[in-house]
Amino acid sequence: MNSLTATAPIRVASVPKSYLHLSVRGAVAMTGLRTPWLASTHHYKPANTRLISSTRQREIKEFFPPPPHEHIREVESAWTHPVYTEEQMRQVTIAHRETKNWADWVALGTVRVLRWAMDLATGYRHPPPGKENEAKFQMTEQRWLTRFVFLESIAGVPGMVGGMLRHLRSLRRMKRDNGWIETLLEEAFNERMHLLTFLKLAEPGFFMRVMVLGAQGVFFNGFFLSYLISPRICHRFVGYLEEEAVITYTRAINDLENGKLPDWNNKQAPEIAIQYWKMPEGQRTIKDLLYYVRADEAKHREVNHTLSNLNQKIDPNPYTVKYKDPTKAHPGKGIEKLKATGWERDEVV
Ligand SMILES: [Fe+2]
Ligand SMILES: [Fe+2]
Repeated sequence: MNSLTATAPIRVASVPKSYLHLSVRGAVAMTGLRTPWLASTHHYKPANTRLISSTRQREIKEFFPPPPHEHIREVESAWTHPVYTEEQMRQVTIAHRETKNWADWVALGTVRVLRWAMDLATGYRHPPPGKENEAKFQMTEQRWLTRFVFLESIAGVPGMVGGMLRHLRSLRRMKRDNGWIETLLEEAFNERMHLLTFLKLAEPGFFMRVMVLGAQGVFFNGFFLSYLISPRICHRFVGYLEEEAVITYTRAINDLENGKLPDWNNKQAPEIAIQYWKMPEGQRTIKDLLYYVRADEAKHREVNHTLSNLNQKIDPNPYTVKYKDPTKAHPGKGIEKLKATGWERDEVV
């Protein structure tokens, strides 16, 4: 018996009660992801081209196939990721911006409702103090991946909707956008890279795909309408959502560092992640990857709280402007001057 099959019963035991009548296969379908370690059970035979999938051979597809075109080596992106140092990433902390008015309350309340729904959908239960070691609160690698994939598939929506609506507004009003669109679209791209990275570790099953489809349909339309009514509340909402994302990745990092996720110990990050974040030699494990993703979420938290603090119609995007006095501290692309609760308007414009 190899170590993977040996660990499988533990994970079956950790499946939420409502899933207990299901076999391992059923439980995986409910939670939605097939992973290499579960693929090693009797139900899952690793496929030739893809270790983590039980999908029939003719249905197996690579999320990032090498370009099939004879003269093309690779597809490049116009957005290159800023380089983070290990020290900068370790300084990222959980933070919360206090609500200051009714609009902040609307944003925070909506995030709390969504958080509850997401916990339910992804089988996550946060342990109250003193109950951290109870079995029902234990997360496995597979449960974390379920949560990450679902979270990231949602997180990629707001930047694209905001960027699209500002683009259309600029066209119809025949006015400049002053740099917001680029940052918003880049955020959406960054979130999609998070999703695509995690999809290298686990392939979603049918139920996960249906959940993502349904959630996207509801969330896209809801955010679209909300952004038309109040972009300021929408950016505050994303700021609070990113606070939750930082909490999620911090807990996953803690689990990994406390030895609760043994399959990720010293496991190499996918190649796509190494390329995208320019991960240096010696810092290319799943743990490093989680630090990079958490740092991105902390940046989104800052950017969206900052954008919410601005006049949505006339202020330029402080992340794309050149300041008259470069010696003063200003918002930038990296995380060297990260402000967890965002920059206030009088600090940036
Ligand atoms: Fe993300
Ligand atoms: Fe994010």
